[in-house]
Amino acid sequence: MSTPGAAAAGTGIRLHAPAPGWALDADVVVVGSGVAGLTAALRCAAAGRSTVVVTKARLDDGSTRWAQGGIAAALGEGDTPEQHLDDTLVAGAGLCDGEAVRLLVTEGPDAVRRLIASGARFDTSAETGEIELTREGGHHRRRIAHAGGDATGAEISRALVEAVHAAGIRTVENALVLDLLQDAEGRTAGVTLHVMGEGQHDGVGAVHAPAVILATGGMGQVFSATTNPSVSTGDGVALALRAGAEVSDLEFVQFHPTVLFLGPDAEGQQPLVSEAVRGEGAHLVDADGVRFMVGAHELAELAPRDIVAKGIMRRMQEQGAQHMYLDARHFGAGMWEQRFPTILAACRAHGIDPVTEPIPVAPAAHYASGGVRTDLHGRTTVPGLYACGEVACTGVHGANRLASNSLLEGLVFAERIAEDIARTRPAGTGPGIPVPSTGPLQPAEARQEVQRIMTEGAGVLRSAASLRRAAAALEDLYAAALSAQEADGKTAVPGTETWEATNLLCVARVLVAAALRREETRGCHWREDFPDRDDAAWRRHLVVRLSATEKRALVVTTTDSADFPSVQHPLSQEQST
Ligand code: SIN
Repeated sequence: MSTPGAAAAGTGIRLHAPAPGWALDADVVVVGSGVAGLTAALRCAAAGRSTVVVTKARLDDGSTRWAQGGIAAALGEGDTPEQHLDDTLVAGAGLCDGEAVRLLVTEGPDAVRRLIASGARFDTSAETGEIELTREGGHHRRRIAHAGGDATGAEISRALVEAVHAAGIRTVENALVLDLLQDAEGRTAGVTLHVMGEGQHDGVGAVHAPAVILATGGMGQVFSATTNPSVSTGDGVALALRAGAEVSDLEFVQFHPTVLFLGPDAEGQQPLVSEAVRGEGAHLVDADGVRFMVGAHELAELAPRDIVAKGIMRRMQEQGAQHMYLDARHFGAGMWEQRFPTILAACRAHGIDPVTEPIPVAPAAHYASGGVRTDLHGRTTVPGLYACGEVACTGVHGANRLASNSLLEGLVFAERIAEDIARTRPAGTGPGIPVPSTGPLQPAEARQEVQRIMTEGAGVLRSAASLRRAAAALEDLYAAALSAQEADGKTAVPGTETWEATNLLCVARVLVAAALRREETRGCHWREDFPDRDDAAWRRHLVVRLSATEKRALVVTTTDSADFPSVQHPLSQEQST
C-alpha cells in the first residue's frame, strides 16, 4: 500500500488532447450516470454541494439501463443481512472485504427504500402489495427486487434521471472524460473532458472541482462479445491509473453464463438472458436435453455465476458445441410476456421464440469485479478522487460478484461518498496543473485488435501460455504506437475513437498482467494450468499502479496486498458544515 504522498505524485501520463477551450466550476463533478453516479449526484446536491454530472452518452444510456434481474437486498420475510452476507462471501471466493460486505448488506435495505422514495417503482404482489422478490445464482433466498418484469435497470435509470432534472443538477451529456486535473500536491482539481456533438459546450473542456466521483461503469468492451454497451471502454480505470491511483482485482472478470448466442463471430453488446429466468425455474440443458448442472452443484442452475459459466464451458468443450440451451418453454406465453418482456422481445428479434424452443446461450464478458481501489467511503488513493459502481473496487465483490449485488453496491457506496463529501470541506485547490502527454494514442483500429487478443488469451479459460501471448501482442500494439511517436513525434489524431482505444489497451495490459501473475483458479479467474484455489499463496489482492519509465513506456507494477488497508486522506480537515 502506497503512502498518500507517493500516490498523489501521479504518473505524469495523460491522453493527448487539445487544451481545454471552455470550463465550468463546481464543488463536485460526478463522471457517469448509472445508479451510482446519479445517486451520488442527488445526495451531494441535497447536501448543498454544487454538482455537475458528466456522462458519455445521454443521461439514461449507461450500463444500469441494461440491468435485467434486479437489485439484491434482504427485504423478504425471514431474510436477514447476515444471510445476504454469507451468500456474498461464498460467491467472492475468499477475497471479499468483510467490512465492506457488512456495510452493503446492512445499509442496503434502507438504500433501496430511499431509491423507492426517489420515485423508482418495483414490481409488487397484486395480493399483498409487498415487493416481489426473485432468486438468482448464489442466493439461498428470494431477495432480488425487480421492476417492469426484467427491466429493473431501465426503471431505476428513469426514476433517477427524473430526480436529477427535478433537482436542477447541471449535466453535460455526450462527454468523454479524458484526465484528472491535479494540483501541485497531486490533489484532485477536476477533470478534462471532450464533448461530442452539439450542445452548450463543445470540444475539449474542463470542470474544475476539488472532488471528482468516478462512476464510469465497466470495461466489457475489452472483449469481443460482452453484455456491456459500447461506451464501456474502461475510461474511469484508465484515468485513475494515469492519475496515479491504485487499482485492484482486475483479473476477476465475470462472464455471464447465459447470453443469447448469436454465432461464434458475434461482436459488441450481446443480449443478456437474465439469471432471474433460471431463478424462476428455467433449465440449462445440452443439445440432448440433459440438465448438466444437476449434480454439479447443490444449487444446480442457480450455483454462483462462475460455477455455472464453467459448467457450460466444460460441457461445450466435451461436446464440441458452440453453446448450450436455456429451456423455459414450461413458463408458457403468459409468464414470458408478463415477467420477461425484454428478453422475450430480444429473443424474438433474433428469430428465437422461447415460448416454443430452448434459447441458445453461451457465456460472455459481463462485469468487472475489480477496479479503482477505494476505502469504505469510496476514497481512492488520490486525494479528492472517489469511485463507486462498477469502476470501483470497494472489496464487496472479491473474486466474483454475487448476482444483483452491483446495483446495491452502486447505491450504498454512492451514498457513503456523498456523506464523506458533505462532512468534509473541499480543499479549494487551484485550477490544476496541465501535464504534458507522454504515452502515444492508439489508432482507432486498435480497439478490435485489443478485443481479439483479449478474447483469445484472457477469456473464460486462461493459461500462462495464452496470457503470455496476449501480453506480448498488447505490448506490440503499445510499442508500435510508441515508436511511431518517437520516430516522427506524431501520434494518432486525438478523438473519441483513439482515446477509447488507448483506454482499452491500458486496462487490457493491466488485466493481463494481473491474470498472469495470479497462478491459481479462484472465483471468475480460471487458469487451466493452475486448476485449484490456493489459499496459502493467493488469498490476497493484486494491487496495480502504472509508472512511466524514463523512456516513456508504460510500466505496470503489481503489488501483492494481503488485505485492503484503509485509504485515509480527507479532502481537507474533517469539518462539519
Ligand atoms: C442478470 O439479470 O442475470 C444480471 C444481473 C447481474 O449481473 O447482477
